Amino acid sequence: MFDTMTLTKAVSALCGSLLVYLFATWAADSLYHTGPAAGHGGEEVAQAYTIDTGATEVAAVEEGPPFAEVLAAADAAAGEKVFGKCKACHKIDGSNGTGPHLNGVIGRNHAVVEGFGYSEAILATAADVWGAESMNEFLTNPKAYIPGTKMAFAGLPKIQDRANVIAYLTTLK
Ligand code: HEC
Repeated sequence: MFDTMTLTKAVSALCGSLLVYLFATWAADSLYHTGPAAGHGGEEVAQAYTIDTGATEVAAVEEGPPFAEVLAAADAAAGEKVFGKCKACHKIDGSNGTGPHLNGVIGRNHAVVEGFGYSEAILATAADVWGAESMNEFLTNPKAYIPGTKMAFAGLPKIQDRANVIAYLTTLK
């Protein structure tokens, strides 16, 4: 059954994979080891190795055509449907709900609706004007664009949805 040759092959295959395993763990350990940096009282954790994927933080947003292009071809009627997600909090009849009314919001300064109790966070940006580009960034991730905002909405991940709803917002006077 087992001749010497088969046995030798089996043993060397085993040793080979053991070696590969040992090397892989050693390599992984030395590349990704993130223990406490010496001399920092163990409080700081130094990252030993950063994998540069060549991607920046906004890579996901930048993929595909630029926003201006998507906006130029946006569909306000489709945006009215997307606005269904905003309606629970935003009215467009000039009165406030959980959120401020959004009449004429494009071209309006941040946080200027009378009688609405804005967060300190958005009040601090009151000098800024809502344009299509800034609205695009805000709606991608409200809490990233205005950290501390009390708008409890995760954002619209699809560029097409953002462009359409912004085209719709532009029609609200
Ligand atoms: C769960 C409620 C909620 C939802 C859903 C919501 N918002 Fe808001 N929104 C708010 C609140 C509350 C504020 C006030 C933020 C603050 O004071 O920090 C706000 C603020 C805003 C502002 C700033 C207005 C200003 O006067 O500066 C815009 C623009 C806006 N929302 C757009 C939208 C759009 C578009 C959607 C849908 C895609 C949406 N919001 C969904 C609650 C909501």
